[in-house]
Amino acid sequence: MKVAFFSSKRYDESFFKENNDGSHELSFFETKLAPRSVALAEGAQAVCVFVNDQVDRKTLQGLKARGIEYVALRCAGYNNVDLPAAQELGIKVVRVPAYSPHAVAEHTLALLLTLNRRIHRSYNRVREGNFSLEGLVGFDLHGLTVGIIGTGKIGSIATELFQGFGCQLLCHDKYENESLKAKGAAYVDLDTLFARSDVISLHCPLLKETHHIIDAAAIAKMKKGVTIVNTSRGGLIDTSDVIQGLKTGHIGNLAIDVYEEEESMFFEDQSAFVMQDDVFARLLTFPNVLVTGHQAFFTDTALTQIARVTLANLSQLESTGSSENEVALP
Ligand code: NAI
Repeated sequence: MKVAFFSSKRYDESFFKENNDGSHELSFFETKLAPRSVALAEGAQAVCVFVNDQVDRKTLQGLKARGIEYVALRCAGYNNVDLPAAQELGIKVVRVPAYSPHAVAEHTLALLLTLNRRIHRSYNRVREGNFSLEGLVGFDLHGLTVGIIGTGKIGSIATELFQGFGCQLLCHDKYENESLKAKGAAYVDLDTLFARSDVISLHCPLLKETHHIIDAAAIAKMKKGVTIVNTSRGGLIDTSDVIQGLKTGHIGNLAIDVYEEEESMFFEDQSAFVMQDDVFARLLTFPNVLVTGHQAFFTDTALTQIARVTLANLSQLESTGSSENEVALP
């Protein structure tokens, strides 16, 4: 099948070429898919897109007009796709439901361990010949209470990793995971989790009900000096409220891999431009804030899995007209 890739980076090209057995003819475009770039897909049967491509009604109409039958997402989320429009136009949408929950759970721990041992600061100091330990006092994770919000694929692995450090686990989810309970994790309501946790790690999806689950009211219920880690979605956190919490010291540490307004910044080299987002710029001024640019998923294992599943989805669509990883209307 002829497939046109959008928002393509060198690593996409490399992992997809390496895992393509010759069944598919792949073209890679750096530009985002949007109504103005649809023409690049001319002659293809499928487009392959990522989290920030604009797969709205207008784009889908443009794809349909050029005979494109399939949209293959090389990610799990599909909030950027107008599913009703795709269905109306008879365009099938497939995705990669899970690639490596371990990658994201491990990055959560990497962020926390970097932040709590001030490694982000000591790395720079040592490179400048500054071996002073002033301001680098960390804290042991052993014995701390960690609150996990969302114990699905990623949250449950993170819970087990925290357990390995000798932490006490408080979990909150609509569905209780019996195997985590058997290992000693306790499910509690959100207020109890906020009140008792030294570290809070977010692993629930961004939904209407979870939007700004961490806001001023939630922060007020937390322990003074709490550490918050978010590798899930930026919209779970009200960033302005968190900045207030950091300024007063109520929040002791913050590590984030995702940011509510990341769409216009992340995945691109912005280093030559003046930062326009004042809230994000303020976040970067805190010594006790650590930010990575949506890289929790970014491992060799996950990229291989993303390429393999996406190519298998396309092969299934080509041979049977449907795929087990089709996204249906909710
Ligand atoms: P999952 O669907 O396996 O687990 C999500 C869990 O959250 C489920 O157990 C669900 O019941 C629970 N949940 C739903 N509403 C909730 C609520 N109101 N309160 C508490 N829990 C609630 O998803 P998975 O694979 O574990 O991914 C979790 C999140 O991680 C994704 O939604 C995505 O936003 C994020 N993610 C981030 C990546 C990154 O690179 N930073 C990569 C992949 C996923």
